[in-house]
Amino acid sequence: MFSWGTNSRAHPGWPARVGPLDVATGGVVLRPIKLRDAADWSRLRIRNQELLLPWEPTGEANWVVRHQRGSWPGLYSVLKAEAKRGVLLPFVIEVDGAYVGQLTIGNLQRGAVRSAWIGYWVDKEWTGQGIATAAVALGVDHAFGPVGLHRLEATVQPTNAASRTVLTKVGFRHEGLLKRYMDVDGRWRDHDLFAMTTEEVVSSASETLVRAGRAHFR
Ligand code: ACO
Repeated sequence: MFSWGTNSRAHPGWPARVGPLDVATGGVVLRPIKLRDAADWSRLRIRNQELLLPWEPTGEANWVVRHQRGSWPGLYSVLKAEAKRGVLLPFVIEVDGAYVGQLTIGNLQRGAVRSAWIGYWVDKEWTGQGIATAAVALGVDHAFGPVGLHRLEATVQPTNAASRTVLTKVGFRHEGLLKRYMDVDGRWRDHDLFAMTTEEVVSSASETLVRAGRAHFR
């Protein structure tokens, strides 16, 4: 289905379509980014400037300029190349086929560490419906299953209550405070480090959500 030319033995778990996991609004799926995502990516990123700016790394150009449709092919190529090298899994979050956000698993390290970070955003018209939680659970299960990782980390600012709630619901644990960790919205910001290892997942992260009544298997 996906023709990224990836050596699946060298980079297990990519490319892949993950889900669905149903929430009240519909079926949440993770699928690889596509070149033809340009229009959706640009429209959603521009209309979510206010939601995203306080939490994302500082960018060089103005937000709207950076998120023009024409910027996507270059960004897509960079992400695709990183995915081919096996260090990044760039997913779109879909609900019943609609592009509603993105989830990325990055800095994949193999060998004795087998760790990566996870990050995500959801369009403001779709927030508050359990979509990010379901998407992160799918990402965790994919990372700990087909990708073969042992640990996932997430860094989040102390004031990002919604994202901290998402991580806690999925089973991430707070490990500590990273002082002046990342340049976000023009300043070095402290971030809390959350993490999870395979030992902490009872059956699967998706199953934990289903048992808690937060999602349903189809
Ligand atoms: N204070 C406390 N809790 C809050 C607040 C708040 N201000 N706002 C939302 N919440 C809660 C919601 O009630 C919900 O919890 P509940 O299900 O127990 O009621 C939870 O936070 C949100 O859960 P979801 O509905 O699964 O998440 P959603 O789909 O709304 O997406 C997200 C959350 C991704 C944080 C979205 O708001 C967003 O894209 N924000 C901007 C970008 C961002 O912050 N991304 C995360 C950066 S950190 C990282 O990637 C590790």
